[in-house]
Formats: sequence, C-alpha cells, structure tokens
Amino acid sequence: MSDNNIDMVLKAVNIVDVISAYIPLKKAGSNFKARCPFHDERTASFNVSETKQIFKCFGCQKAGNAIGFIMEYEKLPFHEALKKLADKAGISIKNDIQSKRKNKKRDLIYTIYELANDYFVSNFRVHGHRAKQYLEERQIPFEMAEKFSIGLALDSYIGLKSYLTRHHINSDILHETGLFRMPENKDICDLFRDRLMFPIHSTNGKVVAFGGRTLNPEQDKQYKYVNSPTTEIYTKGKELYGLHISRFDISKKGSVFVSEGYLDFLRLYTKGWTNSVASLGTALTKEQISLLSRYTKNFYLLYDGDDAGIKAAVKASALIIQHGCLPKIILLPNKHDPDSFLINHSNDDFQAVVDEALPLVRFVEKHLRLFGDKRQAIQMLLDISPEIEDHIARELFIKDISETYQVSEQNLRKNIQTTHINVSPLKKEKPLVSYKYEEEKKLLKFLLKNPSLIDRASNDLGAHYFINEDLKNIFIFLTENENKEYLNSPAMLIERLNEKLLEGDVRMSEELTKLFFDDDFLDNLDDLIRQVKLRKYENELKIINDLLSKDSQNAELIEKKYFVKRELVKLARKVVRNITFL
Ligand code: CTP
Ligand code: MN
Repeated sequence: MSDNNIDMVLKAVNIVDVISAYIPLKKAGSNFKARCPFHDERTASFNVSETKQIFKCFGCQKAGNAIGFIMEYEKLPFHEALKKLADKAGISIKNDIQSKRKNKKRDLIYTIYELANDYFVSNFRVHGHRAKQYLEERQIPFEMAEKFSIGLALDSYIGLKSYLTRHHINSDILHETGLFRMPENKDICDLFRDRLMFPIHSTNGKVVAFGGRTLNPEQDKQYKYVNSPTTEIYTKGKELYGLHISRFDISKKGSVFVSEGYLDFLRLYTKGWTNSVASLGTALTKEQISLLSRYTKNFYLLYDGDDAGIKAAVKASALIIQHGCLPKIILLPNKHDPDSFLINHSNDDFQAVVDEALPLVRFVEKHLRLFGDKRQAIQMLLDISPEIEDHIARELFIKDISETYQVSEQNLRKNIQTTHINVSPLKKEKPLVSYKYEEEKKLLKFLLKNPSLIDRASNDLGAHYFINEDLKNIFIFLTENENKEYLNSPAMLIERLNEKLLEGDVRMSEELTKLFFDDDFLDNLDDLIRQVKLRKYENELKIINDLLSKDSQNAELIEKKYFVKRELVKLARKVVRNITFL
C-alpha cells in the first residue's frame, strides 16, 4: 500500500469524529477530552488535538494518530485499521494486484470456514437435542452456546461436504481446508462426525479452526477431541479460544485468566470471569503470550491442580516472564480443574484462590517438593533468566531470587549459564544515572514548533549528544530530508515514523506524539543545544569516574576524563548551572 493511500485516508478523516464514534469526547480549551479507553480512570486524561490530528493520554501515555487509535482500540493490525478508517471515510483503497492474488485462496478458505460454522450452528439448533442435553448436564447455559457459536457435526460422512457443494464450493479446494479426511482410494469425507463443535476465532472474529468434542462419555479417554490441523488460515499455538470476545474485558480489567480447555473457559465466562482465554491443549506459546500482551501484562495461570498442571503453569510462567509480562500461578486445591472448581465452589471461594496466586519465584519456593531440593529449584529459576528480554526485568528477577532464597546475587550470577558478553558501559553509552532526558525532550519539542531551525540544530549538535536512544532516533528522523515536508502535519509525520518501525514497536512513535502534544514555553535554540551537550558530558564523566574507581591508573580513561572536563568547563561558562560531577 503506498504512502499516498495512507495520507489520503489521514487527510479525509477528522480524528475527533473517529474517536467520538467510540467514546464521548468533550471540548476543553483547544483540545477534546475523555476518560481514557485504554486504562481505568475516573478523571479525563485522554486528550485529542483537532489541529494536530493526534491523541495522547496523560495517564497511561498511549498516543498516536487516527490509525493508531483504531489499531489500539480494535486491536487490529495496521492494514486492517487503515482499511476500517478508509471505509469510514468512504474511500476505497486499492490493494496492489499481487497481494490480491495471493489472498484469493485464503479468502476462499475463510469463506468455507464461515459456511461450515453456519452449518454446524444450524445443526445444533435443528437437530441438537442430544447436544443441548449434554451442555445442560455440564451446566453450560444455552446463551453461552449462542455467544460462542457452539455447533454440532452430524453423524454423517458427507454432511458438510454436501452442504458446501450446495453452496457452490468447488470440490478441488476441499482437501486444503483441513475439514475433511482423505482415505486412500476413497472419496474424501467429513473429519468431524457426531461431535459438539467449538469454533476457534481469530482475534478479529473470523472462524479459523474447530475443536470437536465427543458426546459419548465412553470416548472421553481416547477420542475426546478432534482438532483442525494447520491450514493457510490457522497455525496451532497462535490463537486463543475466546479472545475475540473476551479481549475488551481483558483490557478493561487489566488481567487475564489463562486456562487450558474449552469447558474451563466456558465455565469461567458463565460465572462472570469474562477476562479469560483458553490455550487449547498445547503448552502456551510465545505467539499466544505476545498476542495477549497487547491487552494486558498481568497473566493468571489457571491450570489443573495436579502435578502435571502445576508443571505446565511453571513452564508457561517462565515464558511469560521472558516476554516482559507478569504471571501469577493460581493453585486449585484437591486437583480440581477450573471447571470442576467453579461448579463446586462460590465465586468468593474462587476470588480467594486468585488472591493467593503467587508469582513464579515465590510459587516455586512454596512448592519446593515439585522441583527437587532448594538448590535445584534455584537453578531452574536461574536458567530462565538469560532469556528475559528486558535487562531491567532480568535484574529484578535475579534480585527476587536472591531475596526469596537468601543467596547473594553475586553467587547466583556465578551459576547463570550465558553466552552474553559484558559490553563496557562506555561503548553502550547507557547512562548510569536515570535522567528523564528533559533537556533532550525540550530541544525536540522546540524543533517541532520551529521546524525551520532543524537544519541549524543538526549542524550544531551531532546526534551522538543524545543519551536516550529513542530521542536520538527521533532527532535523526526529523533531520532527514524526506520527512521534513510532513513537519506541519503531525499525524502524517507520525505515520512516516511508524513505517520505519517494526509493527508493534510503538514506543518511539508514542514518544514523538507526546513531544508534539506539550505546549510548554520554550527557550531559545542555542540554550537548548547547550543543555543537551552539558547533560551528555555530565553523564560521560559520571561513567568515567565510575570506571576509574575500579581502574584508577587507566591512561585512556584519564585522558578521556580530561577531555570531558574541558568541554564541560567550556559549556559551563555559557550556561549558568550547577555542574554536579566535577
Ligand atoms: N485436548 C485435545 N485432545 C484431547 C484432550 C484435550 O485436543 N484428547 C485439548 C482441548 O483443546 C481441550 C484442552 O486440551 O479443551 C484441555 O483438555 P481438557 O481439560 O481435558 O478438556 P476440556 O475442554 O476441559 O473438556 P472436558 O472438561 O469436557 O474434559
Ligand atoms: Mn476440563
């Protein structure tokens, strides 16, 4: 899709109308305000600027343009959000021919799944006496069946096949749908027969697979479920049962219950625990975690209360921590599974086990017997740590182990298997002190208000003076010629930045949006540049002093310190400021 398409859409819509369609906006000064749809709040911290065509929440820091709002609110990927916005504006955007061709088969398979779902649901309604009775015995109310489109596959080898043929589906495609079996030398026949059908939906609500449960308790041991195989539209371990409906409640409640089974999920939902999903038999995957992390970082693992369930929950927790989220494990007493627990207990009882849920390190400590002895438990936890993506989270995790088990961090670190090479802080330019980078932000804000001064700023100040990587990259981005023409339309400039980032990596564009938003009173350019340089040298000096305290004779460091101090003195003459590290 070309940039023109995107700009055309952004020009055609008014962000105030777009957002008003979802939440009520109130005029406040030159902006519009609302209670933020992305986090729980009583006051209105969510702001929309009509002139700049951007939004920002001062509470949760979410920010962006109209496309970003739709992506976040509807949890849609970029192209679908754009399409939705284009539809609203009555613009038709042309897909390029190639991608259209590639999608043709996929589209047909989607259609077939939709038809199959209609067929199973109508079977359930018309011929579903036994199926309805089964659900009744399991205490799943009829509304749940409706809401989650539970269906029925008849006891027939050709039921679905004939239905699809009647709907003009060419038989050539059937063997690629995963809905049929192909016995040797025989005609293909329905895969799902005489089963209660649970459709699995993708996040945006399309049916992409089925799980079929036997209605015959004698088959519970061996043939309880038949599941769709991987197809063009479905990969096992990438979807979560129920998410297409529960995602809004997950966002709103700020946490999710992850269970394993269809019936566990339906029980939770029936009892009002609507912020739930089921992972469907396979171990929770990193794709599922990253899908869920779009809605919340707080995971409650609600697995069976037997040893196997506990071990699966521990494994899942490790993966969740590694992906920067916060798992807690709920332990159900007496080997209950979520379904049986909730049937036999009140919601208050359930709340009580939720309240007792523990994060991984504490959980393992409490259930040591499952992990061998204390030493083995610690080692198991340490083995998780090298894969924790975020280094602050990794640090905190090790600290947590240290405090919980009373072993020094230093000794713990000796037992961490890692190929990770320690890079000297000078090379990585990571500040030892955490500044809020106010100087850098102020300068960027100033430049956004005075775009004509960007060239001068980039002459006077190399990007290497920025300490914060995101802000540095924003500075570089602003100085690139092709981006300059967008400086007067923030919504579009933000889009240009988004195009450079990986999908899902919104931090930098949120940062840029926030910079646009603030209407601070700002000083003059030279002053702002000097302040950025000053901070940079202060930071460097602090790092050098730190290194010198361990290696006081290092000639290179001493020379570097001399240089930095000289630069600092030069700058200090021009700016009246306290220099703290001299
Ligand atoms: N599963 C499967 N095949 C099986 C057993 C289980 O595919 N033979 C998957 C299903 O997705 C199931 C999940 O693993 O939902 C969890 O298993 P289980 O708890 O046994 O199933 P429930 O859906 O809870 O069904 P029920 O309570 O009726 O046993
Ligand atoms: Mn179950």
